Amino acid sequence: MEQPHLDKQQPVAQQIQDETWQRQWISEQKPEVETEQSVMGTFDPTKTLNARSENKIDVRNVNFYYGSKQALYKVSIPLREKQVTALIGPSGCGKSTFLRTLNRMNDLIPGTRTEGQAIFDGLNIYDKKTDVVLLRQRIGMVFQRPNPFPKSIFENVAYGLRIQGHSAKFIKERVEESLRNAALWDEVKDRLSISALGLSGGQQQRLCIARALAVEPEVILMDEPCSALDPIATLKIEELITELVKDYTIIIVTHNMQQASRVSHFTGFFLTGTLIEYAPTVQLFQHPSQKATEDYISGRFG
Ligand SMILES: Nc1ncnc2c1ncn2[C@@H]1O[C@H](COP(=O)(O)OP(=O)(O)O)[C@@H](O)[C@H]1O
Ligand SMILES: [Mg+2]
Repeated sequence: MEQPHLDKQQPVAQQIQDETWQRQWISEQKPEVETEQSVMGTFDPTKTLNARSENKIDVRNVNFYYGSKQALYKVSIPLREKQVTALIGPSGCGKSTFLRTLNRMNDLIPGTRTEGQAIFDGLNIYDKKTDVVLLRQRIGMVFQRPNPFPKSIFENVAYGLRIQGHSAKFIKERVEESLRNAALWDEVKDRLSISALGLSGGQQQRLCIARALAVEPEVILMDEPCSALDPIATLKIEELITELVKDYTIIIVTHNMQQASRVSHFTGFFLTGTLIEYAPTVQLFQHPSQKATEDYISGRFG
């Protein structure tokens, strides 16, 4: 099959609407580099790529300021439902800032300001009227360093459910379900009352994922969730992401390009607060349309 014609004048988002060539093309591509993925053969996001998926959050022309310092410039990106979108780019380019705009975590930093729109269920996340507590329940977040509360394993997961005022029976069931969905249940089921701080780093991160899952979010934001973990724990989280995406929309910031290609369907490349390129992950890594993307993924900077 001939390589698809990429019209550089056309926005990439429009080009990927044509999913026929997309599917065919992806299935015919051979990885240029043998990544860990092909060695392990466990994940293959190209098999679950859905170029027709709806936009769960449609981000349009977002500018963000820390006081007078602008950190994001006219960022527009579709975040597709039940797909993994990876955000890559060199340190300081605005990945975390962008992620935090999506559940209004930047509101907690004095002097910040967001302009533009992120349409979620027909409403703009940045609207003053948005119920931020509800928003953060629907759009959960997992941080770079696992941050369990100094409480028992059970109470960490039960935390949000207690705030919501559920019955003890409901909480017990939901805690178990969340721990199962976070692939942690079998490791902790006999010691739910011990302190979460006694768990390994990888287990703590899966516990934080269970805590986010307990309140039934629709979107999960992950900011370099594996950067503090060893390779085995990293692999477990990546495996978990590929499971969770069947039910949730996932946005993951990663500085690890192999990780982006192992777990994500779509990738956005940021540079100095600007989204340079957005495309299906395979396309972005194998046929970047922008010189800056090519330079970055081939390790010329960053
Ligand atoms: N709380 C803050 N106050 C002021 N500037 C910040 C703050 N957090 C981040 N920045 C700045 O915003 C830019 C983007 O940072 P960040 O979003 O953390 O980048 P990344 O996650 O891609 O490494 C950087 O220049 C950083 O110094
Ligand atoms: Mg960051």
